[in-house]
Amino acid sequence: MTAATLFVLLQLLVAAGAYAVKAQGGAQGRQVVDVGVILDRKTWVGNISWTCIELALEDFYADPGHAGYSTRLKLHLRDTGLDAVSAAAAGVDLLKNVGVRAIVGPQTSTQARFLAHLGNKSSVPVISFSADCPSRSRLTPYFFRIAWNDSSQAEAIASLFQRYNWREVIPVFEDDDSNTKFIPDLVDALRQADTRVSYRCKILPSAKEDDIRRAISSLRDHWTSVFVVRMSNTLALKFFQLAKDEGMMGEGFVWITAYGLTDVFDVVGSPALDVMQGVLGVKPHVQDTAELQNFRQRWRNKYRSENPGTNLTEPTVSGLYAYDTIWALALAAEMAGFVDSDFGLSVTNNGFTDFDRIDASKPAKKLRDSLLIANFSGMSGKFQIEGMQLVSVNYTIINIVGQKGKVVGFWTPVYGISSSLNMKDGLHTVIWPGDNETQPRGWLFPWNKTLKIGVPVKGGFGELVRFEDGPKGFCIDLFKEVVADLPYKVHCDYLPFEDRIGESRGTIDELVYKVYLKEFDAVVGDVTILVNRSLYTDFTLPYTESGVRMLVPVLDRRKKTAWKFLKPLTTDLWLGTGAFVVFTGFVVWCIERNEQFKGHPSSQIGSVFYFIFSTLVFAHREGMVNNLSRIVVIVWLFVVLILQQSYTASLSSILTVEQLQPTVTSLEEVISKGSHVGYLNDSLLPVLLRSLKIDDSKMIAFDSPEEYNEALSTGKVAVIVDEIPYLKVFLKKYCHNYTMIGPTYKFDGFGYAFPLGSPLTADISRGILKLESNGRMVELQKALYGEKSCPDKDDSQTSSSLTLRSFQGLFIISGACSVLALTLHTVRTIYGNPHGSSSASNPSLWRRCSPFSLSSSARAVVLLILQIMKSPQCMLVLVQVMQEAHQKEKEHLAGNILTQNHRHFHS
Ligand SMILES: *[C@@H]1O[C@H](CO)[C@@H](O)[C@H](O)[C@H]1NC(C)=O
Ligand SMILES: *[C@@H]1O[C@H](CO)[C@@H](O)[C@H](O)[C@H]1NC(C)=O
Ligand SMILES: *[C@@H]1O[C@H](CO)[C@@H](O)[C@H](O)[C@H]1NC(C)=O
Ligand SMILES: *[C@@H]1O[C@H](CO)[C@@H](O)[C@H](O)[C@H]1NC(C)=O
Ligand SMILES: *[C@@H]1O[C@H](CO)[C@@H](O)[C@H](O)[C@H]1NC(C)=O
Ligand SMILES: *[C@@H]1O[C@H](CO)[C@@H](O)[C@H](O)[C@H]1NC(C)=O
Ligand SMILES: *[C@@H]1O[C@H](CO)[C@@H](O)[C@H](O)[C@H]1NC(C)=O
Ligand SMILES: *[C@@H]1O[C@H](CO)[C@@H](O)[C@H](O)[C@H]1NC(C)=O
Repeated sequence: MTAATLFVLLQLLVAAGAYAVKAQGGAQGRQVVDVGVILDRKTWVGNISWTCIELALEDFYADPGHAGYSTRLKLHLRDTGLDAVSAAAAGVDLLKNVGVRAIVGPQTSTQARFLAHLGNKSSVPVISFSADCPSRSRLTPYFFRIAWNDSSQAEAIASLFQRYNWREVIPVFEDDDSNTKFIPDLVDALRQADTRVSYRCKILPSAKEDDIRRAISSLRDHWTSVFVVRMSNTLALKFFQLAKDEGMMGEGFVWITAYGLTDVFDVVGSPALDVMQGVLGVKPHVQDTAELQNFRQRWRNKYRSENPGTNLTEPTVSGLYAYDTIWALALAAEMAGFVDSDFGLSVTNNGFTDFDRIDASKPAKKLRDSLLIANFSGMSGKFQIEGMQLVSVNYTIINIVGQKGKVVGFWTPVYGISSSLNMKDGLHTVIWPGDNETQPRGWLFPWNKTLKIGVPVKGGFGELVRFEDGPKGFCIDLFKEVVADLPYKVHCDYLPFEDRIGESRGTIDELVYKVYLKEFDAVVGDVTILVNRSLYTDFTLPYTESGVRMLVPVLDRRKKTAWKFLKPLTTDLWLGTGAFVVFTGFVVWCIERNEQFKGHPSSQIGSVFYFIFSTLVFAHREGMVNNLSRIVVIVWLFVVLILQQSYTASLSSILTVEQLQPTVTSLEEVISKGSHVGYLNDSLLPVLLRSLKIDDSKMIAFDSPEEYNEALSTGKVAVIVDEIPYLKVFLKKYCHNYTMIGPTYKFDGFGYAFPLGSPLTADISRGILKLESNGRMVELQKALYGEKSCPDKDDSQTSSSLTLRSFQGLFIISGACSVLALTLHTVRTIYGNPHGSSSASNPSLWRRCSPFSLSSSARAVVLLILQIMKSPQCMLVLVQVMQEAHQKEKEHLAGNILTQNHRHFHS
């Protein structure tokens, strides 16, 4: 229907045009304000609204508060069809011949569109209380919509999706004017709630039964089982009847009717209720006041008397809007303050058609202005115009159970979805389609669906995935466990990705791409999560350790060299020990020079060193005569004891514990040596290796652990670079001779691939997490990798030589003792020793400096030191100190040996 059609039509109307000048003054001096009403009384909405309008007019002027009003509304009903042409014709007639100041009630969007322009031209407000939101471009300053903004319910519907955590929806709607604004608004609101609109199902108003059936079966090809429906009552009735026949009103499905359709329950009654069990409906919330109850009663009586045999009990929300519209108009007419000059005849009445000759009406303009500011409390709630519509507030959510719509909750802008208007609360129990209280999860397997699961067939790592009499391996076992644990039944059909002779049909990339091409519904196998793969499939969370490392052979470092015996002590410790041997020997010689070591100086030196070296193995035979030298030797013997013990322990660990060490320590080493690098065929590695600046000519692909072993042991490649799961499977067999080394290059591990947006992805991911948290994953991994994991073998623990630092304390004690002894001996020698032979040679000196002639304090000190040196307590203390030091040293050593043994055991 175009403006041209309208134009032709209006030309035809010219003939019918009759000019009637309206008397503006009514009876009793009241101003009559003519109001046109355009309804189709062959429809429910038309009938219901007209009854409401009549009652509204009665009620308004019967109200004592309005008795003194100087204006009176006069209604002129035009019972047109639903088509736009007759409505437009009636509009022209009303404007031209009746001179109405307002037109109420175009019922459909198409009618409203024409009348809105007519009203704009003549400045007459056109007020619709049922038409669905026109798109913004069609709004004119004279078109009122006494109904809530359609888009506000989109938010309410989106909140339902959030509340029930449904991720996808299919809107099902009649493909006509009424939904052109609503559906985009709904989609926007749903997107805000993270809900995906996977598909839109449009049904033409003229659809035959077969068309509807086809539309319904198209709904079943999708995974989504949540539908938002808005269509006219008659179409909806047919639609739901067929949907029920197709089994789509059963368990697992969710149907939500938007306002516009929700009224169908009030209007159609049991035929609709019978086929729409479990449906959720959204409709404007109307406060149940005493006036409303009273009105309902009177409406029912009046309607039944006019339409005998009707089942209708409710005036519906749009009826209440009609009622409020009349009140608002009557109030606005009074507020407009018409004056006589407003009604003067217009002079520019010389258009070519009736339409042209319609003039802007001054009183209608005033009426519009006062209607805009009308503000009162009506039957449907607060009446206030904003953006040419009623201000929308709260919505009621009803659930069809049995023969009535049960209120299960509300949507309010403040609390969202709630069972009460005044607080945040859960919804009341909803009985879903299929007569079940269990909340549907929002998607179903497409009818009769068996998942076709692609399984890669590649010889190599059969522990992960292989195909022999069906799929086997870790990846498959894990998937089966996750699927079995899902709260619903999933039928899987595992198909090997192979050609007729059992060879792989292509790379993993190709297999994953088949999911995108819908050849498979999933891929289960050793598929690494990669960016380019994730472009056309969704991956679950990784279920294996992620990352890439290197595999290298290890060699035992135990080279049996001639100088191994030097290894336990570091060079500085060897030098330190030597120095102390010489020093201690010198001290002993000094002290014992005259008693033990006699004769020629060279023979003295010889015997001193013989003596002191023999202490190293506790083989000394010379007895000390002097107490001082005894102390020095005893202390030294402790040092020797500890040194010897430590040396023995360290040497034995070095000789017996294996020192397995990787032959290569980094990839840089491999690159610089120009060795070859091995990798797993058909994997992500070539890309990674190239990014690490490894030339293609240096890369060799392998297929299986056996090939890895052969290549590494024959030196064909220096390292294998691969993902950790493969390496661990390899190491389970060849742990002893190889190790994993090097940095972990970050990759995401294996995942299962599903089509983009598949609802299974999230559920399988959740299942994987569950297995991880309940320990089942560890069991499965143990079965795959072996009970004991193969330890990393590296350099860090090989050097266990003892250092000078660890014996510092001992040497200090020994050195201090020696120095002290030497000092005392020197003092004694200088001042004469009554027991020594040297004292006799210089008796005067001795006497002069003997302890008895020293000042008393000096004498006391010397005596005390002598006493201490001689006393057994002193020795005890020294022994204790030595023992402690020794113990500590031993513990340290034992620790070293233990860790080494431990590693040895694992390798
Ligand atoms: C509407 O009311 C008219 C007159 O009362 C009646 O003839 C018509 O059948 C009614 N239409 C419906 C759908 O009830
Ligand atoms: C409404 O009428 C005015 C003047 O009568 C015109 O300028 C305006 O474009 C019209 N609006 C629409 C939406 O047609
Ligand atoms: C209706 O509501 C939507 C969102 O709630 C808003 O964007 C739109 O402007 C409203 N329409 C009118 C005519 O007020
Ligand atoms: C009234 O309801 C009965 C069943 O309750 C149904 O058979 C009949 O068709 C309904 N009448 C109308 C006019 O809807
Ligand atoms: C709408 O809900 C709010 C609470 O969110 C309540 O205060 C208000 O009264 C309700 N309005 C109507 C008209 O029911
Ligand atoms: C409701 O559905 C659940 C899950 O599908 C099922 O276990 C339960 O038996 C059903 N209850 C009824 C009453 O059908
Ligand atoms: C389901 O499969 C069976 C067998 O193909 C068929 O009879 C029935 O019509 C199918 N409906 C589905 C489930 O496609
Ligand atoms: C490890 O290597 C040695 C020779 O280096 C060989 O004898 C042995 O069989 C290898 N072990 C395994 C498990 O391959």
